[in-house]
Amino acid sequence: MNKIEVNIIKLFEMQNGNLSGAQLSQLLGVSRTAIWKHINNLREQGYIIQAIPGQGYRLINKPDKLTSSEIRAVLETQLLGNQIIALEETDSTNDVAKDYGKQDTAEGLLVIAERQTRGRGRRGRNWLSEPGGLYFSLLLRPKLSLAEVSTITLLVAISIVQVLRKDYQLPAVIKWPNDILIDNRKVCGILTELSADPETIKYLVLGIGLNCNSATDNWPEEIKAIATSLSHVLGYHIDRIKLLNQLLLQLETNYLNFIKGEFGQLIPLAREYSCLLGKNITVNTHHQTYTAKAIDINSDGSLLIQKENGKLTNLWAADVSVRQP
Ligand code: ATP
Ligand code: BTN
Repeated sequence: MNKIEVNIIKLFEMQNGNLSGAQLSQLLGVSRTAIWKHINNLREQGYIIQAIPGQGYRLINKPDKLTSSEIRAVLETQLLGNQIIALEETDSTNDVAKDYGKQDTAEGLLVIAERQTRGRGRRGRNWLSEPGGLYFSLLLRPKLSLAEVSTITLLVAISIVQVLRKDYQLPAVIKWPNDILIDNRKVCGILTELSADPETIKYLVLGIGLNCNSATDNWPEEIKAIATSLSHVLGYHIDRIKLLNQLLLQLETNYLNFIKGEFGQLIPLAREYSCLLGKNITVNTHHQTYTAKAIDINSDGSLLIQKENGKLTNLWAADVSVRQP
């Protein structure tokens, strides 16, 4: 899809109605014959564009493909997605983004794939990445210390829940630190990886896996038992690129505030969205497993718990896995 075709799609999205050949030609500064050719090119790429005599063109349907030009046509962000790599298949979008992180690639790069063959969760766990989901990674270079950046996974989780609640009216919650659940089932996971000197972050990769239109019936039993997808809960097919745009817009707003030092505003949301606070939990560290009560989310994003002996302790995301017994 070339630039004019990207702009034709953008105009259809903005207009949400008919656009005549004359209007398109005037708005884009090309002849009506050129518009006609571009419309036909778009149809060949899977766009259903109806021509209504005397009224112009109308966009009826778009192909459900995550191509970079499709994404570019819809994306409204300034920073996130300033460069897009869209792949049909890859091992892990986090690994691709990390390779770019090792080079001089600017922050904002989006790497997205239709499916991953080695999608990863925390501690090297497998992340099932069948077609129909959103699997993507963002390359960032925040000028922050390691300690300052420790809350970023929570910031991503909050951003996702904001979108799922506001735009889809879904009762999404955060299972601290990196899972999003709906009806007690996991719909999304976040994997943050970074490379840092003792003082500064060289690069940071935010990996997000969100089950959108996944056919849950085909999942392995162990995933079926604990997971869900948006289309399963909502009962309709999700426009993944529209959702991606909503997520990146929200995340961009929160990230830009975060690097200005304004993360504190999000802590009340982390508390409001948490499904753990006030509950008994099982904590797994590398060395031991014990039960405790989740008390609060601290201003640095750590989880305040109370052990059975009454002692209060802070948990940091990197060290633990938390379950509800
Ligand atoms: P914790 O984050 O507390 O350590 P977790 O079980 O959520 O616990 P993660 O490493 O965050 O562990 O996520 C990986 C787990 O997510 C896998 O072990 C699997 O159980 C589950 N999982 C894998 N693929 C998917 C998917 N597409 N949707 C939902 N859940 C999945
Ligand atoms: C988790 O729940 O532990 C995190 C899952 C993160 C999955 C996403 S999908 C895009 C990116 N690439 C990966 O290999 N993992 C993350």
